[in-house]
Amino acid sequence: MSTLPESGLPARPHPAAPTAPSPWVRRWLAALPAGAGVLDFAAGSGRHALEAHRLGLRATAIDRDAAALAGLGDGIAVRVADLEAGAWPFGRERFDAVVVANYLFRARFALLAALVAPGGLLVYETFAQGNERYGKPSNPAFLLAPGELLRRCRNAGLAVVAYEHGLLAQPRPAVVQRICAARAAGAAGAGGLRALG
Ligand SMILES: C[S@@+](CC[C@H](N)C(=O)[O-])C[C@H]1O[C@@H](n2cnc3c(N)ncnc32)[C@H](O)[C@@H]1O
Repeated sequence: MSTLPESGLPARPHPAAPTAPSPWVRRWLAALPAGAGVLDFAAGSGRHALEAHRLGLRATAIDRDAAALAGLGDGIAVRVADLEAGAWPFGRERFDAVVVANYLFRARFALLAALVAPGGLLVYETFAQGNERYGKPSNPAFLLAPGELLRRCRNAGLAVVAYEHGLLAQPRPAVVQRICAARAAGAAGAGGLRALG
């Protein structure tokens, strides 16, 4: 989701931006084995990188906004890059989980999905159509269509683990869509999630 204001100044986190991790993201991060590598993509102030770090995971946060990332402390790898223009800032790197929250840039969805390692997860949560009734974002460019994350993940070769679309009451009323999707582990292993139960 581009948050560049009309002035062209660098984006600042909105004062009302959530600082607590999303329960959806937390749920899937907590299911990862210790030491798994997690990328917080368009991380802002890095609430999900922080949560990954707290959970004993290896966290990387990337955003174009160096000031927003500046509060992240030792133990979290911080990278500043434009994720929508210019060279893609990842080489052959792959992550056990890629987290995207409150951000949408469709043109590079396939590149984003390709960052998920075999056996790894894409955990994505952002606003969906209908959110314009409750506030911003209201620009259709930043609102997912019904089923869009399902379709995009499947097209990117990811298998859907869990999916929801609906009205969230907290931290403020918002229509969101969220998914956890996995890349097949291949011959290398059994996948990135701990066993249930
Ligand atoms: C609404 S914030 C969400 C931050 C974080 N994911 C969260 O949920 O707390 C959107 C983030 O996308 C980042 N962003 C927008 N356009 C970007 C771009 N072209 N390259 C890198 N980051 C970008 C902004 O700097 C901002 O931190």
